[in-house]
Amino acid sequence: MPYAMETNIVLIGFMGAGKTEVGRLLAKNKGFNFIDLDFLIETHEGMTVSEIFRQKGEIYFREFESKILKDIEKNKHNILNSAARFIDITLKSENLIINPKNKLWAISTGGGMPVFNGNINILKKIGLVIYLEADSKTLYRRIKTEKNRPVLGERGFGEKDVKSKLFEREKFYKKADIIIYTGGLSLSSIAEEIDIFISNLYGI
Ligand code: S3P
Repeated sequence: MPYAMETNIVLIGFMGAGKTEVGRLLAKNKGFNFIDLDFLIETHEGMTVSEIFRQKGEIYFREFESKILKDIEKNKHNILNSAARFIDITLKSENLIINPKNKLWAISTGGGMPVFNGNINILKKIGLVIYLEADSKTLYRRIKTEKNRPVLGERGFGEKDVKSKLFEREKFYKKADIIIYTGGLSLSSIAEEIDIFISNLYGI
């Protein structure tokens, strides 16, 4: 039975969960608009998340995340308006996909966003929150070669760092409306699973 009211989709989860890729696929396959909130912040600041952490500090980054979220919540029926307050929305990027005929958005969040400042409750007001869950081993395998991971340490990290950070954060992630376990699945299979799920939910 289709969901009574179509809503935005908010993707949450640890680094390496596949939030951005799934968001892009929702735009491609289901015609959602798509925005990656790390992209919004990096574009607004003109630097990478790592540089923001280094130059302005994590607190600045977390406050900015919350500011954006509150703005999106106020404009949840016109998220493009909200994005336009922070960045040039004519920018060409695979992290901002605009499908003018559709009013629904897929939003991918940074891995820490649901954890701070009561953000998880705001995210749930913006749309249907989907937690892309995976075990620390899978997550570590997906992110181990990436250097741009300031919360895990600039000088490198191991699986046990992923495991303890995940343990700290899981209680926030699990407040999601829906949890999809993605361990062992390829990104395209995750997107396919969500695709089927959304088709059933919305009848689209
Ligand atoms: C963070 C995750 C990153 C980014 C920042 C902080 C975190 O986003 O927001 O480095 O605290 O887990 P991704 O989960 O998209 O990598």
